[in-house]
Amino acid sequence: METTIAKRKNPVQQTDFLPLEGTDYVEFYVGNAKQAAHFYKTAFGFQSLAYAGPETGVKDKASYAIRQNKLTFVLTTPLKKDSAIAEHIHKHGDGVKALALRVDDAYDAWHQTTNRGAISYMRPEVLHDEDGEVAVSGIETYGDTVHLFIERKNYNGAFMPGYKKWETEYNPTDTGLQYVDHCVGNVGWNQMNKWVKFYEDVMGFRNILSFDDEDISTEYSALMSKVMSNGNGYVKFPINEPAEGKKKSQVEEYLEFYNGEGVQHVALATNNIVETVMDLQQRGVEFLKVPSTYYDDLIDRVGKIDEDIEPLKELGILVDRDDEGYLLQIFTKPVEDRPTLFFEIIQRKGAKSFGKGNFKALFEAIEREQGLRGNL
Ligand code: FE2
Repeated sequence: METTIAKRKNPVQQTDFLPLEGTDYVEFYVGNAKQAAHFYKTAFGFQSLAYAGPETGVKDKASYAIRQNKLTFVLTTPLKKDSAIAEHIHKHGDGVKALALRVDDAYDAWHQTTNRGAISYMRPEVLHDEDGEVAVSGIETYGDTVHLFIERKNYNGAFMPGYKKWETEYNPTDTGLQYVDHCVGNVGWNQMNKWVKFYEDVMGFRNILSFDDEDISTEYSALMSKVMSNGNGYVKFPINEPAEGKKKSQVEEYLEFYNGEGVQHVALATNNIVETVMDLQQRGVEFLKVPSTYYDDLIDRVGKIDEDIEPLKELGILVDRDDEGYLLQIFTKPVEDRPTLFFEIIQRKGAKSFGKGNFKALFEAIEREQGLRGNL
């Protein structure tokens, strides 16, 4: 009897000890936040939201918060050389520092996760200004990346205490990007299961999908991936690790240039991928392209879809189907000189998966770029 109980790996579903309301914002540490904010506004269609820096009483850094629908990015740069932010940029180049998650209780989120083994990044703190208060806490995850827990139910200001509303005439129209669909982390050799366990034990996530190196391999290189999701499915973190292949895996290339583990891509959802991608391309965002032969047997592979094939082919949008529907997706090239962070644009039409049917064509496209960089 006792043995049976000990063997049960998944006991009765417990209540979610870390209820998450979704992604609050993504914070990037960058070499020049003013220019990065301009890039994301101009190229991706974000609007100015809030600013923090010397003018608002913050002496050591400048941060620009920008928003598009439910999507908020924060671009932060150090003002002095001796700072943790400067060190982060020196080591990693521009990249994602914080995946901030919206919670109802930032103290409880910190307490629940640190009690389960998370390393504290920031003890719970309540920030005040005339618009109310925001409670913030944080824990460390893979590499130098962190999760912040943001409780803002008692706040009515533009973004957070410490920021002021960013007033500017320059606000390009949006491109239809809506919210963060998922954020992918690249971790080191044989580290995927360690981080899967971290998300299970420390944050109460479940492993909803796994891809082995058979699923994700080309003639040359391979990777493995497991998708972690929180209870309500609002927050999804796939975790990749490199796998043995004839040549260097794209994850290895990332680890080398990022100098360690970190966020590989952030997937941004749209309700009309054709219009969004057309707009992004006109604004200069560069995407990976698959050979046009990809579209020759597309309908045989994915069945009937609502969209015309021709614009998909012209823009390079990929399609995949699962049991619940289909999805359309496309990937940008890295958005900095190091081959590290990139974005995915995704439109889901029922499908809850991640485009497994596109992995081969996509990774061959990535390898062509890796080859051009001499890193294959
Ligand atoms: Fe993705």
